[in-house]
Amino acid sequence: MLNISVFANAAAASRFVASLVVNCVTNDPYAVLGVATGSTPSGVYRALTAHRRHFRHVTAFALDEYVGLPSGHPESFASVVDRDVTRALELSPDRVHVPNGLATDPENEASRYEELIRRCGGVDLQLLGMGRNGHIAFNEPGSAHDSRTRVVTLAEQTRLDNSRFFASLDEVPRFALTQGIGTILEARQLIVMAFGDAKAKAVAEAVCGPVSESSPASAVRRHSDVLLVLDLAAASLVESPE
Ligand code: GLP
Repeated sequence: MLNISVFANAAAASRFVASLVVNCVTNDPYAVLGVATGSTPSGVYRALTAHRRHFRHVTAFALDEYVGLPSGHPESFASVVDRDVTRALELSPDRVHVPNGLATDPENEASRYEELIRRCGGVDLQLLGMGRNGHIAFNEPGSAHDSRTRVVTLAEQTRLDNSRFFASLDEVPRFALTQGIGTILEARQLIVMAFGDAKAKAVAEAVCGPVSESSPASAVRRHSDVLLVLDLAAASLVESPE
């Protein structure tokens, strides 16, 4: 059962999601948080800075990482998570995990990461964004809904969308390490966020279309505890049930 909350704008939606995260980490100071990157969750992380005293013992897992970006590259998800989550919320760095995009054997790194999540007891609360093509993490359309952490080839649409963070399209990696959809669905609670007109089609397909591999985001409808948080623009193509 997909629960949907629609807000007037991304700022209001982000404050609401931040309040849910605060509830999670105040109820369990040792909570395991799944953290998304991209522009969507940035307002949530900013809102959480006022509550950073609650994050000292929290463990965080990033969803994904580009393969091959130089160490310390500002657009590597390791850098983004370090900036927007670890430092901003004062988590203990040794409790924050991001796939190693520079591993000599990326597939082996994928298996290591999958095992590490399992060893930490799994994710309590997973924050997710959604790509314009309906991807979640870097699971592109066509990804199996039982997929595990692995190396993926980025869709050209994704590279184009993410090129806004790079000096040029050529700089955007072609491969990434991503938690699989099956991995993500093992989190105990999912909060999926989508804001803006550009996500409206992907949201409508995920909510109103069939649960299918062509819409990775539709996979979340298989989860028993998932909340979809939208602004009016991203919800604009969702037909309200009769
Ligand atoms: C990125 C990330 C996803 C993110 C999506 C949307 O490539 N891999 O985790 O949800 O694309 O990004 P944004 O929030 O910037 O629209």
